[in-house]
Amino acid sequence: MTERSDLAELAKRRGFFFPANEAYGGTAGLYTYGPEGAALKRNIEAVWRDQFVRAAGHMEVESPTVVPEAVFEASGHLETFDDMIVECAECGATHRADHLVENAVPDVDDAEAFAPRRIADLVADHDMACPSCGASLAGRPVDEFNLMFGTNIGPGSSSPGYLRPETAQGIFVEFPRLKEYAHNQLPFGVAQIGRAYRNEIAPRRALVRVREFTQAELEHFVDPEFDEPPIAPVADVELPLYGAEAQRADAGGTETYTVREALDAGVVGSDWVAYYLAESLAFYERIGIDMERFRYRQHLPGELSHYAADTWDAETELGGDWIEVTGFAYRSDYDLRKHGEYAEAEYTVFRQYDEPKTVERATVDPDMSYLGPTFGDAAADVGEALESLAARDRSAFDGDAVTVAVGEDSYTLPVEKTGFAVEERTESGEHVTPHVVEPSFGVGRLVYSVLVHRHGTDEVDGEERTSLALPAEVAPTTVAVFPLMTKDGLDDRAGEVAAALRAAGLAVSYDDTGNIGRRYRRQDEVGTPYCVTVDYDTLEDDTVTVRERDSTDQTRVAIDDLPGAIDRLVGGATLAEL
Ligand code: GAP
Repeated sequence: MTERSDLAELAKRRGFFFPANEAYGGTAGLYTYGPEGAALKRNIEAVWRDQFVRAAGHMEVESPTVVPEAVFEASGHLETFDDMIVECAECGATHRADHLVENAVPDVDDAEAFAPRRIADLVADHDMACPSCGASLAGRPVDEFNLMFGTNIGPGSSSPGYLRPETAQGIFVEFPRLKEYAHNQLPFGVAQIGRAYRNEIAPRRALVRVREFTQAELEHFVDPEFDEPPIAPVADVELPLYGAEAQRADAGGTETYTVREALDAGVVGSDWVAYYLAESLAFYERIGIDMERFRYRQHLPGELSHYAADTWDAETELGGDWIEVTGFAYRSDYDLRKHGEYAEAEYTVFRQYDEPKTVERATVDPDMSYLGPTFGDAAADVGEALESLAARDRSAFDGDAVTVAVGEDSYTLPVEKTGFAVEERTESGEHVTPHVVEPSFGVGRLVYSVLVHRHGTDEVDGEERTSLALPAEVAPTTVAVFPLMTKDGLDDRAGEVAAALRAAGLAVSYDDTGNIGRRYRRQDEVGTPYCVTVDYDTLEDDTVTVRERDSTDQTRVAIDDLPGAIDRLVGGATLAEL
C-alpha cells in the first residue's frame, strides 16, 4: 500500500478521517474523524486512560482550551513558541525555513536551533528555490512566526488570549489547587486528554501535522531530591534506542538496551524518563503499533524545547520516514517556578523534615519612615529587594551600607535602616518546587500510525482482500452480525442477537446488504475482529457461526454463550478454545 494515497482513500471512503470543511473548499491542517475513526480514536484514548490514569493511580482533569495571555507569558510560549518562516516574493507561499535548509544542506539536521540570520544566509548561499513556484528565495528575510492562535476573551481587545498549544499548561496553572487534592504530598500525577492548537506553517501528511489535534499528557510531579521511579520492575525491559551519539555517528542506528544498561551507560540521563520509556512500550503494543517499526530517539541539543532538560521521542516508521508520536521530557522545575514568579499563588509543596531543625535565618524589617521619604515610589520595591537579598546573601549586610537593585536602578541605604537580623528558628520543613516528568502523546499520530501499520492485503479463497488487523480492544466495532438472508425470520433472529450483544456492552454493527463474502470484506476493511452469521441452522439449534478476521477460521457457538465467548476472544482466547 502507498500510505498517503491508499490510506487517504480508505480513510475517506470508510469514515476514518477526511479533510474538514470540504464543502467550503477545505482548510489545510483541519480534519474530521468519521464514525470509524472517532471510535478508533476513542478506544485508543481509553487504553491510554486505563494505563496512565486508572492503573497508575493518577488524577485526570479537563481545563479550558482558551487561555489568557498572562499564562503564556509565564510559560515562555509567547516569547519562544516560534518556527522560522520565509515568504516567496513571487507567489506569496510561506515555508518553514529551517526545513528547507535541512532538506538542502548535507549534514544539517537540527536547523531549528540556528538563528534566523544564519538560516537566511544558508538559503542564499545554497540558492534555494520556492518549493511552490521555483522562484529564488535568496535574499528573502527569515522571520520568527509564533504558532499560537490568538483571540480576544470577551468583546474588545483588553483581554487577549490564545488557544492552548499544549494541554500541559492547564495542569501547571492549577497546581496550587491540584496539590491539595493530592494531600500536599509528592509524588503525584495529573493527566489530561484534550485538544491543542498550533498554527502550523506547513500542515502535511494527513493527521501527522495538523493545526488542531488531541494530546494525551501526563504531568508527574516529583520531589527532585527524594522521589525515584520504581526501576527494579522495569530494569530488564528492552528499549529500542536511537541516542544522540548514535545519530551523530556515520553508521549509527537503533540499539537495544535494557533499562538498567541504558541508565548505567548514561544513554538515558534521567531515571524517570527511562521508567516512562519502559512503561509506554506496553501501551504502544496494546493499541497495535508494529514494534518492528518503532524506536525511541533522543533529542539533539538544538532540538530541546525551552523547558526541557532531557527529551526522547517515540517514533513510528511510516513510508520510510520516522514520525514523532510521543515526547518524553524531564521538564525540571521550569513550569512551576515560572508560574510561581508570575502568578499570585504558591507553586511549591511543603516538605516535612523527619525531625524539626534549628536553622539560622537572615531577616529584615526596613524602617519605612526612612525608606518612604528617601526612595518615594520605589520604597516598597526596595523593601522587597532587601528581603530577598538577606535570604540570598547575608554578607551583603556586613558593612555600614547595603545596595539593592530594583529593575535597572540600584539603591543604597545604611544597614541600620534595614532592620537586618539573624535569628535562630526551629523549622518543621521547607517549601520545594516539584520537578515535572512528562510523557506527551499525540493521539492523531497514534491513530494514523496504527492505521498504516495494521493495513494489509492478502488472499482469501483466491480473492485479494484488504484488512485492518486492529487489536480487538481498539477496533471501532468488536463484532458484526449478519443474517444469511433477509427472510424466513433470519433477520429478526439476527436483530435479537445484535441487541443481546449490545446489551452486553459490546460495540456491534449489523449488516444485511450484499452477499456474505462481501459483508466479511467490508468488516475486514474497517478492522472488525469477529463476525457472527445467523443462518438456517440457527433456527434449528440456536447456534451461530463466529468468524475470526485474521485467520478467517469459523466455529459455531450457542447464542446463550455468545456474549461471553466474544469477551473471551477479545481477552485473547482462540476460536478452538471456546
Ligand atoms: N507538552 C509537551 C508537548 O506539547 P510536543 O512534542 O510539542 O510536546 C507532543 O507535542 C505530541 O503532540 C507530539 O509527540 C505529537 O505526537 C503531537 N503533536 C505535536 N504537534 C502536532 C501537530 N501539529 N499535529 C499533530 N500532532 C502533533
